[in-house]
Amino acid sequence: MTDITTAQQDRVQIFDTTLRDGEQSPGATMSHDEKMEIAGLLDEMGVDIIEAGFPIASEGDFAAVSDIAKNAKNSVICGLARANFADIDRAWEAVKHAPRGRIHTFIGTSPLHRDITALDQDGMVEKIAATVSHARNLCDDVHWSPMDATRTEHDYLCRVVETAIKCGATTINIPDTVGYTAPRESADLIRMLLERVPGAEKITFATHCHNDLGMATANALAAVEAGARQIECTINGLGERAGNTALEEVVMAMRVRNDIMPYRTGIDTTKIMHLSRRVSQVSGFAVQYNKAVVGKNAFLHESGIHQDGVLKNVQTFEIMRPEDIGLTAKNIAMGKHSGRAALRAKMAELGYDLGDNQLKDVFVRFKALADRKKEVYDDDLVALMADSSAGDEHLKVQKLRVVCGTEGPQEAELTMAVGGEEKSIDATGDGPVDACFNAVKMLYPHSAKLDLYQVSAVTEGTDAQATVSVRISRDGTVYTGQSADTDTVLASVKAYVNALNRMHAGQGRANNSALQTSAAG
Ligand code: KIV
Ligand code: ZN
Repeated sequence: MTDITTAQQDRVQIFDTTLRDGEQSPGATMSHDEKMEIAGLLDEMGVDIIEAGFPIASEGDFAAVSDIAKNAKNSVICGLARANFADIDRAWEAVKHAPRGRIHTFIGTSPLHRDITALDQDGMVEKIAATVSHARNLCDDVHWSPMDATRTEHDYLCRVVETAIKCGATTINIPDTVGYTAPRESADLIRMLLERVPGAEKITFATHCHNDLGMATANALAAVEAGARQIECTINGLGERAGNTALEEVVMAMRVRNDIMPYRTGIDTTKIMHLSRRVSQVSGFAVQYNKAVVGKNAFLHESGIHQDGVLKNVQTFEIMRPEDIGLTAKNIAMGKHSGRAALRAKMAELGYDLGDNQLKDVFVRFKALADRKKEVYDDDLVALMADSSAGDEHLKVQKLRVVCGTEGPQEAELTMAVGGEEKSIDATGDGPVDACFNAVKMLYPHSAKLDLYQVSAVTEGTDAQATVSVRISRDGTVYTGQSADTDTVLASVKAYVNALNRMHAGQGRANNSALQTSAAG
C-alpha cells in the first residue's frame, strides 16, 4: 500500500516566477506572445504554479496574466498584488480565468520596510488581516509573503504569519528579498515558524531566495530540508540584481542527490535546456558559460585528464547526463542537402514545434546558413530560431556594405525599408558597428539610447554564427532585440533593427514599474 502521507511530504512544488520576478530584472523585456510561449512551456514542463505577472503594474501585464490564465492546462496561475484592495482585485480579475487561479499578496515586514510604509507593528498586522481576508473572499488559493522576512524580528515574523494564516492564507512564502541569509539560518527560520506558529501545520511554506551572495539555491534547499514544500524560482535564475534561485539548479540537485534530499518534483527535466535557451533569447539575458546545469560549458571537458576519464567512463567527471536536461549531442546536425522533413524533425528534437509557415521561413534561412557555413550544429539552429522570433517588421535591412580596416573612419552603406519605403544612406563611425548604427539612425531618426550591445559566438570556428543582443530605452521603457549571423556586423545591425521594430510596435517594458517603486525584489 502506498504511504500517501510520506509521498505528500516528499513532494516539493515548483513555483516559477520567471514571468514576474524574472521579468523585473533591469533590462529584461518580453513581448505578450513571448510570455504566452514561455508560460505554455512551463506548464508543459510540469511547473506547479506559474507566477505570470503583476496585473496592476500595466495594461500589458494585466493582459498577459489574463491570457496565460485562459490558456493554462495544468499549472495554477498566480498574479502578484501589494497589500491593498485595488491590487488584489486586479490580480483576481486576471487569474480568475484559470482553471486554478491564485492571488499572491505581500508587504514588507522588516523594520526598514515598516518605516517606509509608516506603519507600526500593530498597524501592519491590521493591514495584513484586512488584505489577506479580502483576497481569501475572492479566491480559495491565497499566497502571502512578508517581504524581507529574513531581516524581520522573529517574534514579529511569527505574529504576522499567524495573522495571515488565521485570515485564510494557504501558502506562506518566506522571502530572502535581499539575498542576505545563509543555509543554516534559512533552515532555522522555517523550523522556527513550524514550531511556534499556531496553524503552521495546515499550510504550505514556500521559500523565495535572491542570489546576492551566491547562496540562493543552497538557501532554498536548506529551507526544504527544514520543512518548506514549495520553491520559488526562475529559469536561468533570472531576477532582480543577482537573480533568484534557478529552477534548473534546485530540480537537478534534488534529482542527482536524492539520497540526501529525498524530495520529488513534477518537473520533466528534459525540457530544461529548451526553456533555458528560449528565456535567454526572449529576455535578452545571455547565460554565462560556466552556469550550473545550463551553461555552455556545463558538459564540456577541456583538460586531458578529464577528457580521458570521460571517454573511459562518463561518470568519472559527469554527475548528470546531458540528455537528462534535454541536451542533444553536439553532432553535425544538418547539411545543405537536408530537406524540410529532416529540419522539422531536428527542430522537434530541439523542442521547437514548427507550424508550416514557420518551417518555410526557417528552412529558407537554414539553407542560406548551410551555404555559408560548413557545419550546422544544433546551437546554430537554436540561434536561427532567435532570429525568427523577431516582432513587427516596420524596419527591414535590405542591403549592407561595410568598409573597415586600419584606415578610419569606417563606413557603412545601408539600404533599409522603413514602413515599406526603401531608403539608402552612407555613414561613417568609430568602427564598423558604430558606422552601421549611425546609418540606421539616419534612416530612422529616433531618441532611444543604446544601453547594451553584446556579442557571443554560437559555436566554435571562424565561420561560427555570432548572436548579438541589443537593449535600447526611450522615456523609461526598455526594448530588446536579438539576431544571429555568420557576419557579426550584419547580426549587430539586425539586432538593433529588431529592438527598434519592437519600439515601433510598443512592445517594451517600463523600467520603473509600480512594483519597483514598492521595492519588491
Ligand atoms: O523578493 C521578494 O521579496 C519578492 C516578493 C514580492 C515575494 O519578490
Ligand atoms: Zn523576489
